[in-house]
Parts: sequence; C-alpha cells; structure tokens
Amino acid sequence: MRIGVLTSGGDCPGLNAVIRSVVHRAVVDHGDEVIGFHDGWKGLLEADYRKLDLDAVAGILARGGTILGSSRVQPAHLVDGVERAKGHVAELGLDAIIPIGGEGTLKAANLLAQAGLPIVGVPKTIDNDIASTDVTFGFDTAVGVATEALDRLKTTAESHQRVLIVEVMGRHTGWIALHSGMAAGAHAIVVPERPFDIDELTRRVGARFEAGKRFAIVVAAEGAKPREGSMEFDEGGKDVYGHERFAGVARQLSVELEGRLGKEARPVILGHVQRGGTPTAYDRVLATRFGWHAVEAAHRGEFGMMTALRGTDITMVPLAPAVETLKTVPQERYEEAETVL
Ligand code: F6P
Repeated sequence: MRIGVLTSGGDCPGLNAVIRSVVHRAVVDHGDEVIGFHDGWKGLLEADYRKLDLDAVAGILARGGTILGSSRVQPAHLVDGVERAKGHVAELGLDAIIPIGGEGTLKAANLLAQAGLPIVGVPKTIDNDIASTDVTFGFDTAVGVATEALDRLKTTAESHQRVLIVEVMGRHTGWIALHSGMAAGAHAIVVPERPFDIDELTRRVGARFEAGKRFAIVVAAEGAKPREGSMEFDEGGKDVYGHERFAGVARQLSVELEGRLGKEARPVILGHVQRGGTPTAYDRVLATRFGWHAVEAAHRGEFGMMTALRGTDITMVPLAPAVETLKTVPQERYEEAETVL
C-alpha cells in the first residue's frame, strides 16, 4: 500500500507522535510505503512531499510541532482544488491519505472523501472541540501549560492585590478554560458557551476582596463574550482563511473590571505557548494509538472515516457527522466548575 500523510491547521502537541506511529505501523508491520506532504493540504495540492521511512521519524515522539509543517490552506480555497488533489493522488499512486487536523482539516477531508478519495482522518486540536471523539490529543498538554501558568500567576496577583484575567485558547469552545480553571482553582471562568453577565462577574470578583482575599484570577476562553447588552464589547473578525481573530476578551475585561472594582486588573494572554513544546504522556499515547488505528482502517478499506476515542477504546467513526457540529461545554460541566471555584 502507498499512504500519504499530512498535518494541517494550527499545530498541536502530538502531531509528530501520529506521524511516527503511522510510519512504524505501515512500514514495519505492513511493508507499506509512506510519503509525507509538506505544509498540510498545500503539499497535496502542489505535489510537494517527501518519503517517510523509519529514519525520518526517529526521535520525534516527544517533539512538539510537526516535522511536515502545516498551513491553513484547504482544497476548497482553490477553484480546481478537489480536482488537483484527485489528480495528484492518482499520479502518486496513493491507496490512502491520512490527514491529521482539526475542524477545518476534517471538513476538507470529508469533502475529498465524498469526491471519492481514500481518506482516513485523524482528529487533533488543543481545543478539544471535535464531535464524535471524547478527547483530542494536544488538549491535555494545553491544559497542563495553562494550569501551570495559572498556578504561577496566583502568587504575583496576591503580591500586588490584583485581578488577573487570563485568556486561554479554545476558539468557539471553553474546554481549555474549564479544565485549567478547575485544575488551578480559578475564581471565575468565562466560556463562549455561556455569555457572561458583567454585573454578576463584578459581584463575584468583588466579593472575594470584601471577604479579605487579596487577589482574584479569572480564566477567560478567548471566544467568551458578554451577554447581549451587558457591556460594550469588540468581538473581532476573521482572517483570510475565515479563521477567528479575537479582539481580546482579557484586555476588555481587565479595563471593565478595573473601572468597576477600583482594583488593579491586568490581562494575561497565554497564546501559542499552549500549543508549543513537548506533548504530555497522555497525548503521546493517544496520538500513537490514533496513528496505529488509522493505518489499520486504511488496510481494511474503511474510508471517509476518522479515528475516535470512546471511553478507553479507539474506534472508527464517519467523518460526515463528526464535522457537522462542534463539541461544546455542556451546561452541567460548567455548573460543576462554578460550584467548586
Ligand atoms: O485551533 C487551535 C487554535 O490554537 C485555537 O485555539 C486558536 O483560536 C487558533 O488555533 C489560533 O490560530 P493561529 O495560530 O492561526 O493564530
């Protein structure tokens, strides 16, 4: 079998572990040939690739980022994108393509699968927002980084009697905010799934100072926004790929809370540090299992599917329903967190 693999969209700790696992399982166990496309779908569209053998993936298990590079280019961005991809798959004699990516990548994967290409998707994202899988690799690492940052921020916040509003990634969902906020014992968490009421948030933070506490930590998911009419708010816009460019919830909240509470407030934006560096053991294991199962699915001819974690098992699920909706934070999970803050 000849398998093409690519990593597309925002990078994520664990991508290299999947690539390594695909190569090991395919080359060693099945005697396949594996090629890796450079910079995501762009590599497939431009037939820009290299051969991946065991030497090519040696020592990459613990390395962050992706040895293949990534981009947000998608076949649908070009008028002849799908035809080009099909042409290159035929020219290169590929029997399977394994795209590793998040929401946008998997939508493109579904499009190509419906156009008849032999696609086996592997979901990845620090945001943990892919439906049909309990967890995506990268999430555990991002939550760990954010939690460590929150722990550290508590001491400086306390020294200066400040309110720190810590902005974490997550796009349209609040999974990183919820988990890191719970793990670090933040004092308030705001997530996109539940627009916040600024009066309520002010009361909550103010109550801490009234009770004699010297600081407060608010974790804000980057996509969080206030309840309609609750405060003036700039939501930002989109980039050329239709990807969100958030205007900065932490910055806007810090100005608002400082004005309302008369306490010094500072925004802290964790940004891409959440995506960089070595994956946790959990993410390495999940990524390795996804890679192994993607190769097996390719050999069974199970195309138009993606790997998924259900409980403790890896299973194959259809791509189409998986890309229809995002997995958002359920109200109950938010309430659990609120209670223990
Ligand atoms: O989807 C992963 C993610 O890190 C989001 O949490 C974030 O909104 C986005 O990517 C940032 O994208 P970029 O790296 O293009 O700024």
